[in-house]
Amino acid sequence: MDTVDAEYYEYLVARFKKLKNKGSISEADIVYEDGNPSCGDLLKIYIKLSPDKKKIEDVKFEGKGCTISMVSADILADLIKGKTLDEATKFQKKDLVDELGIDLSPVRIKCALLSYKIFKMGVYGIKINDESIHD
Ligand code: FES
Repeated sequence: MDTVDAEYYEYLVARFKKLKNKGSISEADIVYEDGNPSCGDLLKIYIKLSPDKKKIEDVKFEGKGCTISMVSADILADLIKGKTLDEATKFQKKDLVDELGIDLSPVRIKCALLSYKIFKMGVYGIKINDESIHD
């Protein structure tokens, strides 16, 4: 398993068993789903915005994926909750990988960044489809 040491692996498994942000949001402003083509796993992200559509109030996700992809999605949700959309879109891949805190092989990087890819696609989709957000 890559360079994940035993202690960190225990942390990943423990967090995987108690994902804080797993679930759905019935009245989400952004819903986007995509997968990791190398394994077929799917992830769907729900984002609830503030009434003025500028701030991320809540983030949930559901789907099927490996431990790293699910824990990474949980961490991403924590990181972007409470941020403005503009702040969250400046968020970089490296920020999420750094937060995960482990060295990952190229294959496992795709797992770790699945939620990041879906989040970015969802946010840019709503930015393109609803110009009123940034008027
Ligand atoms: Fe599918 Fe990691 S093996 S996302």
